[in-house]
Amino acid sequence: MIENNKKALITGAAKGLGRATAVALSTSGYDVILTDINAEALAETKQFIEDNGGSAVTYILDVSDKKQIESVLMQAIKDEKKIDAFVNNAGIGGKMAPFHEMKDEDWDRVIAVNLSSVFYCLKFQLQILLKQGGGNIVNVASLAGKKGVTLGSHYSASKHGVIGLTKTAAVEYGSRNIRVNAVCPSFIETDIIDTVPPPILDFVKTYRVPLKRLGRPEEVANAIKFMLSDDSSYMNGHSLVLDGGMDAG
Ligand code: NAI
Repeated sequence: MIENNKKALITGAAKGLGRATAVALSTSGYDVILTDINAEALAETKQFIEDNGGSAVTYILDVSDKKQIESVLMQAIKDEKKIDAFVNNAGIGGKMAPFHEMKDEDWDRVIAVNLSSVFYCLKFQLQILLKQGGGNIVNVASLAGKKGVTLGSHYSASKHGVIGLTKTAAVEYGSRNIRVNAVCPSFIETDIIDTVPPPILDFVKTYRVPLKRLGRPEEVANAIKFMLSDDSSYMNGHSLVLDGGMDAG
């Protein structure tokens, strides 16, 4: 579906799934608003989109800082006049550790970047969409939002929380022409899985994923694009698993 004159804001848009989502949305006609903490990679993504005929603007936004979320979102809507879609994607893996050894600062950081960020983004995005009379939001959760993760209590809790926020926003705002959904990828080839030991990734590919490979960022981006489009107009409060069939067996 070609989306002319639509604008989408993506957090964590400099690299990985956020970058792939920005490129996919741009290719389908959106003007994209890119936000991230990595200024250099953000500029490279903007350049790539423009070199391919798209339109992109950038804002530096650290999603662990609620004041920055409010000020950047308010500045973006002032500059752009209208934003049709939001993708709350920025996130980190965090330092893995067993529960009884998890450091407070590692727990706090993952909850701040992965969960509280989505609450504050939603809060201000919903204010914007209510004024506009509707719109669409996709949150990037994880398969870890549906399952426990060995050594990842903080990550799993943060992503379960993102699914809870998604469902709650969907039931609160569906009647106001706002749809809120989530994607739940498993292992996708981005920098975030660099911390996963290669033997584990090999085991996952060989024995756990029926498709026998990890996911590609574009495959998640295409699902997000679908969820933001009218092709998914009756989808609301859904958490779409993208795992190559890993959780099916
Ligand atoms: P990535 O590490 O490739 O990209 C993450 C992006 O977020 C980077 O551009 C980084 O600069 C940005 N970022 C990090 N902290 C930030 C902050 N405080 N404020 C703003 N931006 C920040 O990782 P990936 O894989 O693209 O992750 C994107 C989302 O997808 C995350 O929420 C992650 O939890 C989720 N996810 C990823 C999976 C995977 O296997 N790659 C699987 C399931 C979920």
